[in-house]
Amino acid sequence: MTSANDLDWDALAAAFDDEPDHGLRDPEVRDAWARRLRSWLPDTACDVLDLGCGTGSLSLLATEQGHRVTGVDLSPVMVERARAKLAGRDVVFLVGDAAAPPVGERQFDVVLVRHVLWALPDPGRALRHWRGLLRPGGRLVLVEGVWGTVAPVGIAADRLRELLAPVAGSVWVERLSQDTALWGKVVDDERYAVVALE
Ligand SMILES: C[S@@+](CC[C@H](N)C(=O)[O-])C[C@H]1O[C@@H](n2cnc3c(N)ncnc32)[C@H](O)[C@@H]1O
Repeated sequence: MTSANDLDWDALAAAFDDEPDHGLRDPEVRDAWARRLRSWLPDTACDVLDLGCGTGSLSLLATEQGHRVTGVDLSPVMVERARAKLAGRDVVFLVGDAAAPPVGERQFDVVLVRHVLWALPDPGRALRHWRGLLRPGGRLVLVEGVWGTVAPVGIAADRLRELLAPVAGSVWVERLSQDTALWGKVVDDERYAVVALE
């Protein structure tokens, strides 16, 4: 099985946005993510920490929905691309580890993490740290999955639920595999989002 630690994210950055759900270039795919994101984020403008932000596609959607976004990614090349994608917008992108983001004492209303938790060596520890970054009433919005059927990688929703049990009071799992508009194709593996409240 491929380990996330084997991946060279700097090298993957150039072609990263070619995947429909990464670059969100197709308006139908983009609209599908924008609708979901709107339903997961608070209705009023808030502070969102996008961890493992990659090329900034979700940061851009959140910004367009009126939120104030800070993005963090370990890959300097990803961060460079995110900065270019959101040039001219009031967004901050930092190079750093999602497991311990370099945000000092700042707190956020939302910690948003798409397709990153599975790549961290100790997901349970990361979740506990993220919980501590939230203001009272804040939420974790986690979009994860198990990709591929032959040599699957990722984190299953049931496992993530277990990891969240000591961290969150309420956990809502939304299944996403069947929504082909999100992926730009039919998928038959496990894809889901979790909204976890204190
Ligand atoms: C599959 S991509 C997802 C990017 C973005 N969240 C999205 O949904 O488009 C995984 C991202 O996590 C980043 N990443 C991997 N390990 C990380 C870590 N420990 N800290 C911060 N970022 C990390 C990679 O550089 C990459 O940009």
